[in-house]
Parts: sequence; C-alpha cells; structure tokens
Amino acid sequence: MSKKKILLNAFNMNCIGHINHGLWTHPRDNSTQYKTLEYWTELAQILERGLFDGLFIADIVGVYDVYQNSIDVPLKESIQLPVNDPLLLVSAMAAVTRNLGFGLTANLTYEPPYLFARRMSTLDHLSRGRVGWNIVTGYLDSAAKAMGLSEQVEHDRRYDQADEYLEVLYKLWEGSWEDDAVLNDPQARVYAQPGKVHKVEHHGEFYQVEGYHLCEPSPQRTPVLFQAGSSERGLLFAGRHAECVFISGQNKASTKIQVDKVRASAVEAGRKPDDIKVFMGLNVIVGATEELAWRKHAEYLSYASAEAGVAHFSASTAIDFSQYELDEPIQYVKSNAIQSATKNLQNNDWTRRKLLDQHALGGRYITLVGSPEQVADELESWISATGLDGFNLTRIVTPESYVDFIDMVIPELQRRGSYKTEYAQGTLREKVFHGTARLPEQHTGSTYRP
Ligand SMILES: Cc1cc2nc3c(=O)[nH]c(=O)nc-3n(C[C@H](O)[C@H](O)[C@H](O)COP(=O)(O)O)c2cc1C
Repeated sequence: MSKKKILLNAFNMNCIGHINHGLWTHPRDNSTQYKTLEYWTELAQILERGLFDGLFIADIVGVYDVYQNSIDVPLKESIQLPVNDPLLLVSAMAAVTRNLGFGLTANLTYEPPYLFARRMSTLDHLSRGRVGWNIVTGYLDSAAKAMGLSEQVEHDRRYDQADEYLEVLYKLWEGSWEDDAVLNDPQARVYAQPGKVHKVEHHGEFYQVEGYHLCEPSPQRTPVLFQAGSSERGLLFAGRHAECVFISGQNKASTKIQVDKVRASAVEAGRKPDDIKVFMGLNVIVGATEELAWRKHAEYLSYASAEAGVAHFSASTAIDFSQYELDEPIQYVKSNAIQSATKNLQNNDWTRRKLLDQHALGGRYITLVGSPEQVADELESWISATGLDGFNLTRIVTPESYVDFIDMVIPELQRRGSYKTEYAQGTLREKVFHGTARLPEQHTGSTYRP
C-alpha cells in the first residue's frame, strides 16, 4: 500500500505581519510588497513549483485593540493591520497557475449570503474550480462596532447564524441552477433553459432570501469548505459543514485528541471520519545541516517581536495581557472571542513572561528546526502520531520560508513516498479528496439539490 501523502497549504494573509510578528524587519523578508500583484503571482508560482495543495489566506475584519486598549503596537509592528481583501488576489494568481488551490477566509457575519454566493461562484469559475472558503464569524468587538453593532454576537449564537448562512448558500449554489440548465445553443437562441433555474425561498431566523442565484453552476458549485473553530459548538458546526479543518496544535498527544474529536464530529453528522481533512499550523526552519538550521533560527529570533505576538494573542483571547506584571498569574476567563485559544490558558499557570517566551518567534505555532531529513522525520511522526492529514505552513521570512521548504524538505518527503510527485487532475476538491468535483452525497449541502 502506498504511504499516506502529506497535504500542504501555505499559510498567509494579505498583510505584513501575519503569525510570526516582527519578521517584516528582516532584510530578506518582502512582506511589505503585499500591495503589489507581483508579490502574489510570484508566490503562487513558487508554491505551484512545490506542488502545494493550496495557498490558505487568513483574514480579519476589525483591529487588535485589546492589548493596552489601543492599536499602537499593531500599527507599529503591522500586526494584521493594514490588511487588504483576500478574495481580490485570486484572479491574478489563478491566471499564472493551473493547479494551486486557494483557501479564502471570509467573515459571514457582515455580508449578506446572496452577494457572497456570487463572489465565490465567480472565483470558482475564473479559477476553474480551485477555490475553498474558510468559514469564519469573527471574534472582535472592534469589528462589530465598525459594522454598526454595540458588541459582537454571542459565541454560540454566531454558529447558529453560520448554520443558517450555509443553508442559504447551499440553496443558491446547489439548488438554484440544475446541471443541464445551461444549453448554450445559439441556433435555438437558448443560453439557459427556463424551468431549470429555480427561485430560492428562504425564510429563517437570520435571513430572508427570495431570488435566483446569479451565476451559472461553477465547477465545484460549493467551494471546498474550511473551518477553524474547535470549541464544542464549533465542532458541531465542523462535523456538519467542514471538509477541511484547521487547528493550532500544542503537542502530539493533545493534537491527536483534537483530530479524533473532529473526525467523531463528522461521523455524528452522518459522514465518514475521513470526509474531513485536518491541517495543523506549523513553522519550519530548515537548513542544509542541523547546525545551519539553528543558525538561521537564531538569526530569525533577533528580528522577531515577542511583544507583538502577545498583543495578537490578546485579541484572540480578549484578555489584555499588558495589565499583568511579568510573573503575575494570568486569570482564566471564559471568552466571547476564540474559545479554543483561551482554553490553552485554562490548565497552566501562565504569566506574561511565559507568554513572551512562547512567542519568541513572534507567534505561538510549533516550530520544527533541523536538516531536511530531521524535518521530514518530524513531519511524518506528527502525521502518524496524531492522524493529521497535513500542515498549514507559515511564513517566517517570506518567501524564504516557502522556498527553503520546497528546495530542501519536499524532495526528501518525495523520496520517502510521503508527498506527491505531480498534481492530481481536476478541481481543488478532486485533488484533495480524490473524489468528485461536487460535494459528496453524505454532505448536508448535497441535500439541497433539486
Ligand atoms: C487556527 C485558527 C485560525 C483561525 N483563523 C481565522 C481567520 O483567519 N480569521 C478569523 O476571523 N478567524 C479565524 N479563526 C477564528 C475561528 O474561525 C473561529 O471564529 C474561532 O476559533 C472561534 O471558534 P471556537 O471558539 O469554536 O474555537 C481562527 C481560529 C483558529 C483556531
């Protein structure tokens, strides 16, 4: 039997400081070029050379004003601010690649489903079926206020709203146009057949929609659905809707528990455990030898900002860590922000000093440092010990982190049979699942077909 192939996304954002804060000051980092098309088209081509499954683009609506109750540190260190729209990048990158997928984060809370459905269908057409959507509902009061609310919707209610949002989208993407609705017959003067395009009627608690989907069926119809919440309510949502789940692991034992929970949530929703692919965020610093890798690590550390990392974590947890003395124990409070992030504070006696140590590289993701063989050993070990399907590889110095990985680690993984040597045919869904372009039968979205 052939070895399980590791799936790989590049993890990025349409901004300067994404996960590893402070590294924008590194002389070889080009993230301040994020405003140019060339930055993105070159990156897409680099990733396609490495046979990456996708470029996963995070996004945030709102600013990180929890730390010191201000945006001073985020502005100085460019902590996901300024941040441009991720969806607008796709056309340019799709034009210079043929196989790379695009996992796009979009917050559903502030955009009507009818308009969002059209934007995603448009991108699915233009990319020939290469888009995924990372479903997020937001976790920042600053976003809610900017959008006219006094505070954000309560945590579990956000998921209730998301469930209904998805229902509307399935109706539009899966149910409005039949497969043979488009005839495109100039002789008969019929482009689309009356009777084969249906009006969506949705009268729910959050949304009222009466209308036809504006786009003809795109290759995947519903984009590949990503999700990243792992609270109890988040898992319920993932089990029902997600095809790919993104987690931030702490160690192998706890990651295995998380992965098992995700698969159990799929089974609970009448799906197969493998219907969800689970990716973990990861930093990799590789060198030709172990010594060179550690030297690079030390060099990166000298540019990183641990304080900026903690300021980011303040926003994720809604706790202002600047209020604490360096060695004062941090109080756990149940949060209306990211519960999976706050949970990590629950059982440990965390202090600001410990958080700063944890954020030495500017972020909280696990970091592998070593030679290509050592990194490949660890990647394989993570996959076999936890049941993960793949990784969302962060950038530390961009594009150097990706280039190093492609030049050194990928050939080693390929030699071991742990990584593909060519792309599979078809849409993003077909490539990742080796199945159909459309949602599989057991997915709830497929029940909305006419
Ligand atoms: C690893 C990870 C990545 C995330 N990326 C984003 C993001 O790019 N944009 C966003 O608005 N929320 C992001 N989130 C927040 C989640 O989508 C979700 O709203 C949040 O985790 C709350 O879910 P939970 O309390 O169920 O964990 C991320 C969460 C995790 C754990």
